[in-house]
Amino acid sequence: TMTSRVKVVEVGPRDGLQNEATVALAAKVDLINALSNAGVSYIESGSFVSPKWVPQMADSADVLAQIERHEGVTYAALTPNMKGFDAALAARADEVAVFAAASEAFSQKNINCSISESLARFEPLMAAAQAADIRVRGYVSCVLGCPYQGEVPIAEVVRVAEALYEMGCYEISLGDTIGVGTPLHAQRMLAAVAEAVPMPQLALHFHNTYGQALANIAACLPLGVATIDSAVAGLGGCPYARGASGNLASEDLVYMLHGMDIETGIDLPALAQAGQAICQQLGHKTRSQVAQALLQQ
Ligand code: HMG
Ligand code: MG
Repeated sequence: TMTSRVKVVEVGPRDGLQNEATVALAAKVDLINALSNAGVSYIESGSFVSPKWVPQMADSADVLAQIERHEGVTYAALTPNMKGFDAALAARADEVAVFAAASEAFSQKNINCSISESLARFEPLMAAAQAADIRVRGYVSCVLGCPYQGEVPIAEVVRVAEALYEMGCYEISLGDTIGVGTPLHAQRMLAAVAEAVPMPQLALHFHNTYGQALANIAACLPLGVATIDSAVAGLGGCPYARGASGNLASEDLVYMLHGMDIETGIDLPALAQAGQAICQQLGHKTRSQVAQALLQQ
């Protein structure tokens, strides 16, 4: 049954800014502060990956050091391995996320190892996180298609999601990395994963490359999913997935949810302001249609 409240996981400062030419540290800090002031309760704030692979995220420790931390807000970071985990812990990330893929080809391009090697690499990280009392989120990329191998069998998505869940990830975020999915495929994929991982532990992370993200979310909400990832202003993309343009825009998601009487705790005009400010910094237009409409009023 449909949820009455959605937890919005804001990934703009990470997924969004990892794909932009270098953004000033102060602009990142301002963005995160503006998001928390708008009532966003979960902000993926950076990424402790190799700076040779993603130089845009090299200042994540400084970002976490300089933000104003609001009570009740979770500031999270991506960590692909122990080195990243140790750095995230030192920077006082509240939570971390590991990221795997349902496609072998994408796993190699993105994290330079096979799916099974990546899962093995997460084991010591899970143990260290448990010892440090840090929750770990798990991503599965390419759940509705892969930029290198094309179609991805739903059974592979289920297998990787279940492995991350059994390893101790408290939530599994299902990523349509290149935004190729359509509503019935998204529904079938979510329903299949929910047979292996309980629905309250699942999240959707849909990129909007083909303009399908909001339709896909709308199709999945009746299945009971209650956690959705999105990025303010529709920022986003993965440097290792060609054509992975923006994430679902947070403003568009929040507008739709509020219109469906689903609470988010987010102040939409304040969210749109946060998006406008970062777009001014980046020198490009917002990808959120709702933000465009609101700002024209
Ligand atoms: P590798 O080259 O195989 O790693 O990269 P390595 O262990 O051989 O280390 C190579 C060098 O990197 C060494 O330095 C390490 O110290 C350093 P050197 O001795 O050459 O000077 N290194 C690190 N430095 C800082 N932090 C670290 C770290 N680890 C190693 N954590 C690795 C493997 C995983 C590190 C690399 O492939 C990598 O960083 N990949 C990250 C790629 C990435 O960030 N992609 C975007 C995020 S995923 C995404 O966007 C999808 C998502 O949004 C969901 C969706 O949309 O589907 C989550
Ligand atoms: Mg992504």
